[in-house]
Amino acid sequence: MMSKKKKTLVTVASVIMVIATVLGCVVIAQKIPADSVKTTGTTAGSPTTTATTTQSTTTTTTTTTTTTTTTTTTTTTAKPTTTKKKTTTTKKKTTTTAKEEKITTTKYTTTQVYNPDRKAYLESIKGNKKLIALTFDDGPTNNYTVKLLDNLDKYNARVTFFVVGDRVSKYSSTLNRAYKMGNEIGSHTYSHKDLAQLKPAELQKQIEKTNEEVKKVIGVYPSLMRPPYGSYNNTVKSAAGVPIIMWNIDTLDWKHRDKNKVCQNIVKNAHDGAIVLMHDLYGSTVDGAIMAMDKLQHEGYAFVTVSELAYLKGKTLEPGKVYNSIK
Ligand code: NI
Repeated sequence: MMSKKKKTLVTVASVIMVIATVLGCVVIAQKIPADSVKTTGTTAGSPTTTATTTQSTTTTTTTTTTTTTTTTTTTTTAKPTTTKKKTTTTKKKTTTTAKEEKITTTKYTTTQVYNPDRKAYLESIKGNKKLIALTFDDGPTNNYTVKLLDNLDKYNARVTFFVVGDRVSKYSSTLNRAYKMGNEIGSHTYSHKDLAQLKPAELQKQIEKTNEEVKKVIGVYPSLMRPPYGSYNNTVKSAAGVPIIMWNIDTLDWKHRDKNKVCQNIVKNAHDGAIVLMHDLYGSTVDGAIMAMDKLQHEGYAFVTVSELAYLKGKTLEPGKVYNSIK
């Protein structure tokens, strides 16, 4: 009985070998039979060994396209240390890919519409509305940011958020909603440090960690950057990789925490091409911004993101350049 079974299995093995050779995986076929012959010979047809042989043959057929996988598996069995080394290599590879992708983001130009869904609306207001970009730093948050998002459609408004990297994963659903609505997501770097005081390596970390956090949530890197405290130097400019956006209307919302003052500061200073600084950390800020939109819409204003503002003004924002307004 045993020899009959063995015979059948040997026949099966040779049929598979023929198929494998026909398939063109000559290299793999040469390797595996060497192993199978050895095993079968030593343990003289024990069912367990035969089973193993059959299994590895199956693997060969499956691996026709992924030769690398087979090689890795073999190494693992021999030397666990090698596996560790291999994992590190894979990690390194991922970093390289991320860097390549980052270059793609840097190539983002404001001659494109940030959100294609807004294109028709933007064309309809081109040349006949005064434009203002409302921007919000230091978020995201849940309640205040969400309240702001809830009120944007009423004014056909989209805004720009400069998010802090270390808040991104905690408030990922808010960020994702903001992005999907067509608001623009910029970086306020990772932990709100004064970038001009940092060593280059730390500066790079602040920027890159934020880029990765944001990409994990919305699928793309931030399109703009605003340094915390508006503090930058030439090193910051060259490390940014994207346009640096400052402001020319400061609501001082963090200081007075008064919705009427927020509203007044915006309305009183509003002009075509302005960029307004606010923080979506306070209820008074969000309420004041909504009040201001309510007033300004009757004065012929449209509320656009920074990149939409550049697009409508026919300007291309350059990476590493600083903008206080776009006229
Ligand atoms: Ni800030």
